[in-house]
Order: sequence, then C-alpha cells, then structure tokens
Amino acid sequence: MGADRPGAGAEVRVQPLKPPPDRLYGRQRSHPLRPRQQLLLDVTLPRMRFDAALATDPRAAFARPVREFWLEVGFGGGEHALAQAAANPDVGLIGAEVFENGLCSLLSRVVPEGGEATAPVPANLRLWDADARPLIRDLPDASLDRLFLLFPDPWPKSRHAKRRFVHPAFLPEVARVLRPAAEWRIASDDPTYQAWVAEVLAGQAFFAVPPPATARPAGWPPTRYEAKALAAGRVPLYWAVSRRPA
Ligand SMILES: C[S@@+](CC[C@H](N)C(=O)[O-])C[C@H]1O[C@@H](n2cnc3c(N)ncnc32)[C@H](O)[C@@H]1O
Repeated sequence: MGADRPGAGAEVRVQPLKPPPDRLYGRQRSHPLRPRQQLLLDVTLPRMRFDAALATDPRAAFARPVREFWLEVGFGGGEHALAQAAANPDVGLIGAEVFENGLCSLLSRVVPEGGEATAPVPANLRLWDADARPLIRDLPDASLDRLFLLFPDPWPKSRHAKRRFVHPAFLPEVARVLRPAAEWRIASDDPTYQAWVAEVLAGQAFFAVPPPATARPAGWPPTRYEAKALAAGRVPLYWAVSRRPA
C-alpha cells in the first residue's frame, strides 16, 4: 500500500482525459512473501476467489442467496471488508485488491494457521485479486447495490491523474453498474484527491451528491489507512453519493 502511494504533488484540475488504462494494476508485491503468506495465496485465495465467469451473474458466486451485492475497491488490509461481511451476512460482498500483502492480511484473519485448506471461509465474501475496473466493466447494468472506495491511492501528480479510480472517463461505467438509489461511499484524506473528487462529482449528473462528512459516519467500519491518516493529523472527507434513476 505505502509503496503504491505516490508522494505529494501539484493540484490537478479535471480535464477530459483518455479512459484510464487497465494495464496499470496487476498483482503487486512489496516484500518477498513468507511461507504462510504464500500458502494463503496458493491455497486459501482460490477458495475465496471470485470467478470471472460469474461476472454476468455475480450473486451466483456466493455460497448462499444474498439480498444485495456490494463491491469494495482496494480493501487494503481487509478490515472494512471483513467487518461489513460479518455485519451483513445476507449481503454478498466482493473485495478487490491488487496488493499481495493486503490479500494476505485479509486471508490471515479468515483462516488460522494450519487451516489454510480447510477452515471455513465467509459464505458471503469473495475476493478479486486484480484491478477492479475490468470486473466493473463486466458487471450487468444496475447489478450493484453498494460500492466502497476508501482511501484510494491519490496519485497527486497531474501526469498520473488518469490512474485515479474517480475519473470522468470511468464514471459512466460506475453509474451503469449501480442500481438506482444505490450508494457509493468514497473516503479520502488527501487534499488533492478530495478536491478532485469534489470537482468530478460537481461535473456529473449520475449521482446526487450531499456535502461530504468530516467525521466517519455510523456504519462505516474503520480502515487501517484511515487510522494512519488520523494519527498524522489529516482530515478525511466521507462522501455517500447515491445513483440517480437512469
Ligand atoms: C491507500 S490504500 C487504502 C486501503 C484501504 N481501503 C484502507 O483504507 O486502509 C489503497 C489500496 O487500493 C488498492 N488499489 C488501487 N487501485 C486498485 C484497483 N484499480 N483495483 C483494486 N485495488 C486497487 C491498492 O493496492 C491499495 O492497497
């Protein structure tokens, strides 16, 4: 995560840009993996991996019928995804993360040592260990009930703006997959990204955009990255925007 996060840079204005390239986020690693981590990726991850063939019917991926289907993009260490899956057993959640250490962190909380192949895994949580954007492109229209984007990599330099998940070129795809009235939660502690989100959201008609909160709203489990931001004295903003009827 930290290794992915670029340093400070100049303020960026929203401009018409080419759609972000998908080749950007393959699986990423910052350190050699320990044996337990390798085992989690080799043995436990396949037990929880979302099957790309089910993208046209994502609810079929869960081991029991689900009332809603949610997606978290960039779950980091998995604190939020695990808390949401536990608090909402009747919801099917896909957590997407490209960073191997993040995947291992979540998996290590799901199965105890020695239980990598056999310990039960949550029936309502599936993992997507790749860039979330191609997955989103494959989802059916209005299939998603909630989307989480918590403390995304800010990419503060203008030449990297095309890598931001919140992006005018990708917004129509996000809007397409969210059903009317579905909520998209976005949090960021980075002033450049905050300004970018505010500007991108001000320039679109897909979502109703109430002012962001300056304290984490109820029902938003904390994340590791948020804790770091608060400890460093940064002030996160929390948006809960809702999909307008198409
Ligand atoms: C700054 S971290 C925040 C992690 C977590 N949400 C938190 O708040 O602690 C952003 C994470 O998003 C992941 N990420 C960035 N772009 C992604 C994408 N397109 N698809 C999936 N994961 C992505 C990165 O690997 C990184 O772990």
